[in-house]
Amino acid sequence: MDHVVTCIAPVNIAVIKYWGKKNEELVLPLNDSLSLTLDCEQMHAKTSVIAGPFFENDMVWLNGEIMSVDGNTRLQKCFQLVRDLIKKKKGVNCAEAKWKIRVCSENNFPTAAGLASSAAGYACLIYTLATAFQLTDEDLPSIARQGSGSACRSLNGGFVHWRADVDKCESDSTVVQIASDTHWPEMIVLILVVNDSKKKTSSTIGMKQSVNTSELLKYRVNECVPKRTAQIIQAIKDKHFSKFAEITMRDSNQFHAICLDTYPPCIYLNHISHEIISFIHDYNEAVGQIKVAYTFDAGPNAFVFLEKENLSSFLSELIHVFPPNHFDTYLRGISSIQINSRIMFNFTPKEKGLLKYIMVTKLGNGPKCINSHLLNQDGIPY
Ligand code: DP6
Repeated sequence: MDHVVTCIAPVNIAVIKYWGKKNEELVLPLNDSLSLTLDCEQMHAKTSVIAGPFFENDMVWLNGEIMSVDGNTRLQKCFQLVRDLIKKKKGVNCAEAKWKIRVCSENNFPTAAGLASSAAGYACLIYTLATAFQLTDEDLPSIARQGSGSACRSLNGGFVHWRADVDKCESDSTVVQIASDTHWPEMIVLILVVNDSKKKTSSTIGMKQSVNTSELLKYRVNECVPKRTAQIIQAIKDKHFSKFAEITMRDSNQFHAICLDTYPPCIYLNHISHEIISFIHDYNEAVGQIKVAYTFDAGPNAFVFLEKENLSSFLSELIHVFPPNHFDTYLRGISSIQINSRIMFNFTPKEKGLLKYIMVTKLGNGPKCINSHLLNQDGIPY
């Protein structure tokens, strides 16, 4: 490899949540999950890689800081799996499998906002390494998921189904694209970044505690997720928004119910998250139809789905109810949006500054290579 390879990878938001592993070591999920991949334009992880016989050790920089590779078992495992794949593809004695690797990675969105960044980060790392070593795509999801489970979904664009059961082999899972990002171009995603400072239990630890202690989790895995997954896939194929929205909200609520049923409980939502939930139900009731849906991961920020034709009127009500501290930086992302709707309903405004900002984005593609690098030829960050 005589040059730096750089790629970007998207964030994905699950509408059927992955929560629980049946195999911790291999990161095999207990249940299917389904996600929407967001456009890289607004949010992405970016990773540069160079490897060669002249480097003495693996080195990784993340968001401007050097990381301890030795202290990070998931990172080590990903490097090992990539080296195993190089041997499988190019021969066991292949010199490239022994090369040390330099990695520099950063997100173009604030990590401090507490938005899931490990999925984009690991998807980007594995995709960039695979490109650098000319490895084929089919093996990448199983490597990426061992960095972070949800990362395997960020290797595809559009609507992505991570299947827990696999016909071919017990020690794997599969990732399939249900529909591309162009299938439902009207779909808009808002990220409501909530003001919150509390550190939360990580997803990895939280889901482990849920598997060990929650009775409800078993019911969800066996009874609810299989039905819901089939229904939401149909709703996506039919572009049936209200069905898609109801399943999304029910699954988010059930996931957080399981977090509460975990002992000791993991509490990811805060009072602002609950205000958002009830505002969205009030809004849907006021318009007489389900026009907007929310989902929450292991944190208080809301991911909101709606169709373009409802964006302007929903945003004007949202900003009326959740007024900002500073107007100029409140709306971010897709720059062409204009809010010209009048306030139609009589919702009471809450105190200013409950939300830090609102990111407006849409669906997008999987990872891709780009030409602006984070590392120089000597493997040193710029
Ligand atoms: C709530 O993928 O972060 O976001 O596999 O342990 O790294 P690990 O967990 P992670 O879990 C994501 C959980 C979730 C739901 C989801 O994205 O499906």
